[in-house]
Formats: sequence, C-alpha cells, structure tokens
Amino acid sequence: MDEKTALCQKAVEMLKMAYVPYSRFPVGAALECADGTVFTGCNIENAAYTPTVCAERTAVFKAVSEGRRAFRRIAIAADTEKFCAPCGVCRQVLEEFAPEIEVILVNREGKTLELTLPELLPYGFGPKDLER
Ligand code: THU
Repeated sequence: MDEKTALCQKAVEMLKMAYVPYSRFPVGAALECADGTVFTGCNIENAAYTPTVCAERTAVFKAVSEGRRAFRRIAIAADTEKFCAPCGVCRQVLEEFAPEIEVILVNREGKTLELTLPELLPYGFGPKDLER
C-alpha cells in the first residue's frame, strides 16, 4: 500500500474517535510530517459549542506540540458522500506551518479528491506577510 493510501486509511480510522454528540458529524484527519511521522486527529465538540475543535486542528496541534512543524500532506475523512473540505480556520492554521501542503479529502466510499492549500486558500496570510 502506498503512503497516500495508508494516510487516508488512518484518517478514516479516526472517524470512530470523534466526539460529536451535537452535530453527529464525525471527521477524521491524518497529518504526514516532513520526517514521515503521522499524527492523527478527530473533531472534539463541546456543550458550549465554540470550544469545539476540528479534526484537522487536533492533528496539527498534536504534531506541533510534539516538535513537528513541517508537513507534507493531510488526509481528511468524513462519513458523507460529499467530500468534507477543511473550514476556514483550519485552512489558516495549515497556512501557518505548511502553505504548500497537499490536502486529500476522503468520502464515505473511500473516494479521494486531491487538492492543495493554495487552491483552498488563495492569497493566504502567513508569517512572511508580517515582515516589513
Ligand atoms: N469539522 C471538522 O472537524 N473538520 C472540517 O473540515 C469541517 C467541520 C467538524 C466541526 C464540528 O464538530 C462538525 O464537523 C460539524 O461542523
């Protein structure tokens, strides 16, 4: 099995870890770092709603907190026929560390859609934009 397929499989496996009592909309993510390590994530909801964190950010924050800051690709799985694209906040969080990251969406049937962050977040604002 190739690396991409394995990453997609890990994202799908994370669907069962999602804590989604309010939306009933599980999302799983698997983030591949530049050194080849993979960090997974799921969405974690909250009774106060706004503290809810998406699967993608769970994975990124796990990786950064373990010393990784360079990422190659992220797979995002949802239990829906439609592909689940990352929300605006997650796109911005990815922009901070990996403006060129490959984003692979996986649907319920295991079909994939390969995108890039520049496609999802054109003219993204990142650390370099603070330089003057
Ligand atoms: N969600 C994610 O985890 N990732 C996405 O890409 C889109 C949305 C979560 C947030 C919330 O728990 C649920 O899906 C419904 O919005």
